[in-house]
Amino acid sequence: MTISRLIIQQLRNINQASIEPASQFNIIYGDNGSGKTSVLEAVYLLGLGRSFRSRTMNSIIQLGKEAVTVFGLVKEQQNNEIPLGIERKKDGAVFIRVQEHTINSIAELAHYLPLQIINQDSYQLLTGSPKQRRQFLDWGLFHVEQSFFPIWKRFQRSLQQRNACLRNKVSNAELKFWDKEFIDTALIIDQLRTHQLEQYKQIFVKRFKQLNDIDDIELIYKRGWNAELDLEQALAESLSRDRQYGFTHAGPHRADIDIKTGKMLASQLLSRGQQKLLTYSLLLAQGQLLTEYTHRKCVYLIDDMPAELDRHHIQSVLTSLTEMQAQLFITCIDPQAIAPAIKTAVKMFHVEQGVITAVDNREATS
Ligand SMILES: Nc1ncnc2c1ncn2[C@@H]1O[C@H](COP(=O)(O)OP(=O)(O)O)[C@@H](O)[C@H]1O
Ligand SMILES: [Mg+2]
Repeated sequence: MTISRLIIQQLRNINQASIEPASQFNIIYGDNGSGKTSVLEAVYLLGLGRSFRSRTMNSIIQLGKEAVTVFGLVKEQQNNEIPLGIERKKDGAVFIRVQEHTINSIAELAHYLPLQIINQDSYQLLTGSPKQRRQFLDWGLFHVEQSFFPIWKRFQRSLQQRNACLRNKVSNAELKFWDKEFIDTALIIDQLRTHQLEQYKQIFVKRFKQLNDIDDIELIYKRGWNAELDLEQALAESLSRDRQYGFTHAGPHRADIDIKTGKMLASQLLSRGQQKLLTYSLLLAQGQLLTEYTHRKCVYLIDDMPAELDRHHIQSVLTSLTEMQAQLFITCIDPQAIAPAIKTAVKMFHVEQGVITAVDNREATS
C-alpha cells in the first residue's frame, strides 16, 4: 500500500496540512517540537483509529478544537486509489469513511492500511510483557489469514464469559458448558499462531542475518498452557486457582514468544543497540511476510531513526528498507544523517511549527 495524498486537520500543532508522499522514501525533518512525530501519528490514526503516543484522543486533538481529521488516498499495487477518512471528536465520537461508505469498526479500517511503527519504544517487543509479542504475532495473522479475526473475537467473548462465570461462582457443570466454545476457538487460534510463526521464522532469519552480528537466534512459541497437557486438562488443573482469582489462567490469551540467543532471552543478554537492531529485523520481517503471502505491502513509520542507530547501522537498515520497496515515513532532526545513504528517490518534508513544506532534495541536504 502507498499513501499518495495525506491531509491532516487539527492534529496537535498541525492545523492543516496536505502532502503528496513518495511511494517509497519520505523524510520528515525539523527541530524538536516542530511536529514530525505528529505526522506519523496522523498516518497511524488513519490506519488504526488511535494514537501510539496517547491513550486519550483529547491530547491529540488540537488545543481549542473539537475534532481531529485525517484523510488519505491509499493505493493498492495496481488497483485504484481508495479514499480513507477518520474524524475523532472530543466527546468520543468516531467517524470512519472508506470510499463513500461509513463503517463502524476500526478493525475493518485496519485492513486497508497495514502499518508498522518503529520508534524508541519498539524494543519493548523484547523487554515488555507477553501481550506485546502476542499482538506482534497476531498482526501478521490479522493481515494474512482472513479467518483469524472472527475466531479471535469469538475466543475473546468466550474468555470474558468464562471469567464472568468464575467470578459468579457458577457450578462446575455450567462452567463445562461454556468451556466448549472456549476450547474450540482456543485450539484454532493456537494452530493458526503455530503455523504463522513457522512461516515467519523463515523470513525473519534472513532479515536477521542482514542486520545483526549475533550468531544464533531462536523464536520459541509458548501456547499459553502447559505443553504436556491438552487444553481441557490444563483448564481442569487450574480450576481451583481460576475460581480463586476469577480469571482463566490457561489459554491462548497467555501465549508468548521467547526470543532467545545463546540459550538466554535476548532481552537479558543483548546490549540496547543490539536489541534495537533485532527489533528492526523482527518488524521488517513482518512486513515482508505480508508481502510474500498477500502481495500487499505495509507502510513503515520510523520515528527519529538517526537517534536510534549509529551510522553503519543506519546504512544497513536503509539497505534493507530499500529492498522491501515499501512506503516509509522516516523522521529525523537533520536529514543529512540519512538522505545521503539512500540510493533511490526521496521526498523531503520540512516541518516547522506544525507547517509542512515539501522541499527540493538538494536544498535539504546541502
Ligand atoms: N493537542 C495539542 N494541540 C496543539 N499543540 C500540541 C498538542 N499536543 C502537542 N502539541 C505541540 O505540538 C508539537 C508536536 O510535537 P511533535 O510532533 O512531538 O514534534 P517533533 O516530533 O517534531 O519533536 C509540540 O510542540 C507540542 O507542544
Ligand atoms: Mg518527535
